[in-house]
Amino acid sequence: MEKLAQLYEGKAKKVYKTSEPGMVWIEYKDDATAFNGEKKGQIAGKGMLNNEISAIFLSLLKEKGVDNHFIKKISSREQIVRQVDIIPIEVVVRNIAAGSLAKRLGWEEGTELPQAIVEFYYKNDELGDPFINNDHVAILGLATESELADIHKQALRINEILKEYLMTRNLILVDFKLEFGQTPEGQIILADEISPDTCRFWDAHTKEKLDKDRFRRDLGNVEEAYQEILRRLGGKVDV
Ligand code: TMP
Repeated sequence: MEKLAQLYEGKAKKVYKTSEPGMVWIEYKDDATAFNGEKKGQIAGKGMLNNEISAIFLSLLKEKGVDNHFIKKISSREQIVRQVDIIPIEVVVRNIAAGSLAKRLGWEEGTELPQAIVEFYYKNDELGDPFINNDHVAILGLATESELADIHKQALRINEILKEYLMTRNLILVDFKLEFGQTPEGQIILADEISPDTCRFWDAHTKEKLDKDRFRRDLGNVEEAYQEILRRLGGKVDV
């Protein structure tokens, strides 16, 4: 398979066309941003770590019957995935109050939610990814009612699988963000990445933050946290 023209460059990844129809080539970058790109930096080795961490999670989900875009990892910072049309909805699943939810509800960070909740944000950088509900999704024409119900159901299933798996690794899955895409056949599948950039992971005992909040909040030891996640998942980066 050949890497062809660049299709897109996002904040954390680049996407290239390939010689293989229906497949794209993803390159994970070390760049890190927060607060809709207002804060910029680099996390050394992040591209390699997130490539491997995401490959582990997406493979696990596939094994558990959650189809997704992942095909194979091809180098330390590159992977091949199915080409899908990304649905511009950021789907956030939460188990514990943190970040914007803690702020919005006035709940103390760390408060366990009575049930997992799913939230939708409109993936639109110019607008700063605003919080939206089912009616907004409908009038924006982002997804049909049944597609959104499908996304909601998949998000909760993904949460159950990841939460359980991470607990065996002494990690609490506080919350995370997912993106879905539509295949040419019209199937809606999980896409994008699952990594410390897009999830909150806390140590189950000490509640230490092991994710991008260390970068967002200037807590230090950012790379070490990403490395620790990979270590607990049993992964290795081939340098
Ligand atoms: P929030 O509490 O800031 O709304 O974040 C919820 C989860 O979503 C958290 O795990 C981080 C992730 N997230 C992203 O992946 N991208 C984003 O742009 C934002 C705001 C959050």
